Amino acid sequence: MIYLKAAVVWLIVAVVAVFAVSSSGMIEVAANREHSGPVGWILETAREASVERQAASIDVPELDSPDMQLAGINDFDAMCVGCHGGPGKERSSAGRGLNPIAPDLATVATERTAAEIYWATRNGIRMTGMPAWSASHDDQSLWPVVSFISMRLPDLDSAGYAAMLEGATGHGHHSGDSGGHTEGDGESHEHGNGADQANDPAVPATEEHDHSTHEH
Ligand code: HEC
Repeated sequence: MIYLKAAVVWLIVAVVAVFAVSSSGMIEVAANREHSGPVGWILETAREASVERQAASIDVPELDSPDMQLAGINDFDAMCVGCHGGPGKERSSAGRGLNPIAPDLATVATERTAAEIYWATRNGIRMTGMPAWSASHDDQSLWPVVSFISMRLPDLDSAGYAAMLEGATGHGHHSGDSGGHTEGDGESHEHGNGADQANDPAVPATEEHDHSTHEH
């Protein structure tokens, strides 16, 4: 009985302490400071374990069709490069300010399975800048990006990437958006625009809407 009372008292003390610390304003939230060692470790370990566990039950479709990869590079260039960077491509000004910084996906592709890449892309990662792309894209648009990242990206240098991107005109729903709309990329999904442009030989698709080189 006495142990039970002591346990209840400690529980109340713990709840009050958590409330006091949370509302004191002392927990650091600035993105330009690092997490303390233990907090960073907990978050990273939890993310890796969670993604691995949830990706285990995903059925991965065939990913080695060249058409799929061509659609994937266009979408990767329009949707991912701003934060993650790419071969010969710097992160955008917004991407450089993220904490945690978005990792180089060529390296990620060598460490994670396609199912894990798909899971993170589709669902996002809470409390980081990684968006849930399921909010705006269905599986038909997401698997090509995963296929490109997982099967092609690790082998591309900047020249290879530029050449593949040029050859991808007309593939994928972001064809024609290249280089743009990477900072948030919310409004460009009224499908069609990019593709129409890409099909029109008079319009140099990869040079339209290029905000990626804009620096302050
Ligand atoms: C607005 C910025 C932003 C955009 C745009 C973005 N990401 Fe991310 N992404 C992040 C951040 C930040 C992380 C790191 C999260 C972490 O470390 O916990 C991340 C993590 C990931 C991971 C997990 C990496 C790992 O180590 O397991 C994958 C996979 C990923 N992103 C894929 C994509 C793909 C594919 C796209 C484009 C469709 C994309 N991201 C677009 C910010 C972004």
